[in-house]
Amino acid sequence: MTPILMLGAGRMGGALVEGWRRAGAFAAAELILRDPYPTDTARAVEADGARLNPPDAALAEAKTVILAVKPQIWRETAAEVAHLLAPDALIVSVCAGVRADDIGQAFGGRRVARVMPTTAVAINQGTISLFAADAEGRARAHALFEPVGAVVDLDDEDLLHAATGVSGSAPAYFYAFVEALEAGGVAAGLPPEAARTLARATMTGAAALLAASGEEPADLRRQVTSPNGTTEAALKVLMADDGLGPLLSKAVIAATRRSKELGG
Ligand SMILES: NC(=O)c1ccc[n+]([C@@H]2O[C@H](COP(=O)([O-])OP(=O)(O)OC[C@H]3O[C@@H](n4cnc5c(N)ncnc54)[C@H](OP(=O)(O)O)[C@@H]3O)[C@@H](O)[C@H]2O)c1
Repeated sequence: MTPILMLGAGRMGGALVEGWRRAGAFAAAELILRDPYPTDTARAVEADGARLNPPDAALAEAKTVILAVKPQIWRETAAEVAHLLAPDALIVSVCAGVRADDIGQAFGGRRVARVMPTTAVAINQGTISLFAADAEGRARAHALFEPVGAVVDLDDEDLLHAATGVSGSAPAYFYAFVEALEAGGVAAGLPPEAARTLARATMTGAAALLAASGEEPADLRRQVTSPNGTTEAALKVLMADDGLGPLLSKAVIAATRRSKELGG
């Protein structure tokens, strides 16, 4: 499994490294990072004992290679390093939309697992969708991500597009919701500072309660909605025929479609 070579240690690669560090999953000395412009996170992991941009020969030691560059440059990254890697290295790609077969070919026929994580892996509360054609690749990818979040296995690679729509891209939907709620509070007359605190604390508290209670969101919603009360008045707007349900479906479909386009 280790050493683990991380190709690209930006937002997602950095979040993963932070998550492993927090979970005590892998020692920094087991990590090799390759990134032309290292972030503060990459430098901090280097200070802990990881190898940052070592000579090319070191790349052959990697048992696992995480491909965490932008989808637009994954091919040129593969071309730079494929000939330097061990033949049995497992490639684990987090690149949105890019197919396992294409990655396998660009990496000289090596085995590939694909994952779609969220950046909450940094605080060990990530969500990770995973596909690998072979059982061993799947097991190893599982072991990499289990310490940093909830892993969902997918049997069909094409489902990763929808998983991106409903998970990989979805933290941004939540942040957009909080922004809109805050703006709604200001529009209703609250001072901006009060709207900011109320919107953020209420949403994070509600999310924590959903996680801690294990109850269905629909049940929690009913519990806080009195007949003819204030919440019901708001839900009549949010859950109207043209409300949140169809809007989110459209958003998920748009992200799913874009994931397919990126895959080419
Ligand atoms: N961010 C998310 O929430 C998220 C969620 C799920 C999946 N992903 C996937 O994660 C991947 C990375 O996204 P990101 O948001 O982390 O992007 P990012 O912050 O731009 O990170 C990519 C890193 O790779 C570096 N890099 C560029 N060329 C390289 C090369 N040839 N070799 C090694 N490293 C190189 C970049 O350096 P420069 O900045 O100098 O170019 C950057 O530090 C994407 O494929 C995306 O689909 C991201």
